Amino acid sequence: MVIGSRSKERAAEACEEICKRWPERDLTLEAGDNSRAAAAEIVIVATPWDAAALTVASVAQRLTGKVVISMANALAKVGDEFEPLVPPRGSVAAHVQSAAPGAMVAAAFHHLPAKALANLNTPIDADVLVCSDHVTAFERTAELVELIPNLRPLNAGSLSNAAPIEAVTAVLLQLNVRYKTRAAVRLTGIELPGK
Ligand SMILES: NC(=O)c1ccc[n+]([C@@H]2O[C@H](COP(=O)([O-])OP(=O)(O)OC[C@H]3O[C@@H](n4cnc5c(N)ncnc54)[C@H](OP(=O)(O)O)[C@@H]3O)[C@@H](O)[C@H]2O)c1
Repeated sequence: MVIGSRSKERAAEACEEICKRWPERDLTLEAGDNSRAAAAEIVIVATPWDAAALTVASVAQRLTGKVVISMANALAKVGDEFEPLVPPRGSVAAHVQSAAPGAMVAAAFHHLPAKALANLNTPIDADVLVCSDHVTAFERTAELVELIPNLRPLNAGSLSNAAPIEAVTAVLLQLNVRYKTRAAVRLTGIELPGK
């Protein structure tokens, strides 16, 4: 796996930090700039929302034919409230898709609580809503989700659904503040064979 960054030194520091934290996991991480990261088979864009499309545009050529996963949420903290914003094209994921038209963009991972996601030893019981205009992008993203214990990928339709998926993150954050918890999304009524 390649950790990309605007600075290769920062990427190297991030790799070192992760390997130090999880020595027993024998992680094979490589540090690179964003261009190197864009050469990976599947690319996850995990920048602040207002940098996602710009970052993707800077390496768009390299992303042609690739699965690109957008996980950013366009939010603003206004006083004590989190409020959803409307980015260009209606969602961060749609903006990312327009910045790299040759890529196959999927939107996913928006609702996972940050602390739990950052802790490899904490299982997260959650559904991951995945939407895309490309079947391959959904399938590859779903495979990635399934590598994480207790996560279940759900096909949430086309990329036009990225807007409500991203926006509802504001609601989750608000609930976390109100109830001093780290809520995740688990939908009832959907039974999948073997899950
Ligand atoms: N944290 C989570 O578990 C989680 C869960 C669900 C969704 N998300 C979404 O995923 C995204 C990343 O979350 P995060 O907590 O990792 O964010 P973050 O720490 O604020 O940013 C991640 C990285 O983005 C790069 N970056 C920052 N500003 C940039 C800019 N102006 N242009 C280009 N790159 C920039 C930085 O890397 P370099 O300086 O090394 O380039 C930074 O380390 C967010 O949009 C968030 O809403 C996060």
